[in-house]
Amino acid sequence: MLDQYAVIGNPIAHSKSPFIHSLFAEQTDQRLNYTALLAEVDDFAARVHAFIENNGKGLNVTVPFKLEAWKMVNARSQRAEKAGAVNTIIVKDAGLLMGDNTDGIGLVNDLKNNLGFQIKNKKILVLGAGGAVRGVLGSIMNEQPKSIVVANRTVAKAIELENLFAEEGCIKGLGFEEVGDEPYDLVINGTAASLSGDLPPISTLAVNGACCYDMMYAKTDTVFMAWARENKAINVWDGLGMLVEQAAESFFLWRGVRPETAAVIQKVREIY
Ligand code: ATR
Repeated sequence: MLDQYAVIGNPIAHSKSPFIHSLFAEQTDQRLNYTALLAEVDDFAARVHAFIENNGKGLNVTVPFKLEAWKMVNARSQRAEKAGAVNTIIVKDAGLLMGDNTDGIGLVNDLKNNLGFQIKNKKILVLGAGGAVRGVLGSIMNEQPKSIVVANRTVAKAIELENLFAEEGCIKGLGFEEVGDEPYDLVINGTAASLSGDLPPISTLAVNGACCYDMMYAKTDTVFMAWARENKAINVWDGLGMLVEQAAESFFLWRGVRPETAAVIQKVREIY
């Protein structure tokens, strides 16, 4: 039986991961099977165990199970530990589960390698302070930006992240109204606001002259992307590259082979 891999979440029907990983497997001549698994909210652990019994070697974990996966694994990488979330499970010998998080490195690799944006010494504004943002902050800070401001609707959550990452560099948590009129090099939208058609209410001057990145991907511009374009952002990017790059890092953890991502990003963009 082929080694089995899957992405597990709820909902999961529209996940692009099976397509992305099948392209990786084809490109690197790896013989494996990658599917999408729907788990009920109270049935995550049972689904994971059943999958492993059936020759499961690795899982990607998505909404809403990343925290549950973090709690469930037998050991965690350092970056997963800090992220507070696991998006990749590696099944070791004897069925031990290793938890990792490739979201942050996925974002950083997309910025650096695909989009040509170097984080070092840059002023960065991150919008949002939920699980998605916590998952990527450590990797961004590893690149030694000049400073990071985390702005969130609920200020207390931004301050929590400031405290959690304070040892790793210059980071400040605040509310949207405190963002003010300072310019930034990079503005990352990590809020779920686009899902409800909302915009984080920040000054237009924050995006004027900045590179703007939405961690979401949709066929057409998100509200944030459209707003950034209107307000003179110099580059506006969506999160498709991050999606493919985090997948590539997971694939590497499982198979020890690093797939090329550029052609895969292009193919996903053509189809979805
Ligand atoms: P995720 O895992 O996607 O980060 P989450 O932990 O629920 O999900 O976090 C969602 C983020 O989007 C939070 O920063 C949330 O702000 P609050 O902490 O104030 O709830 C933000 N968010 C969601 N809807 C928003 C909206 N309409 N406007 C602004 N921010 C929003």
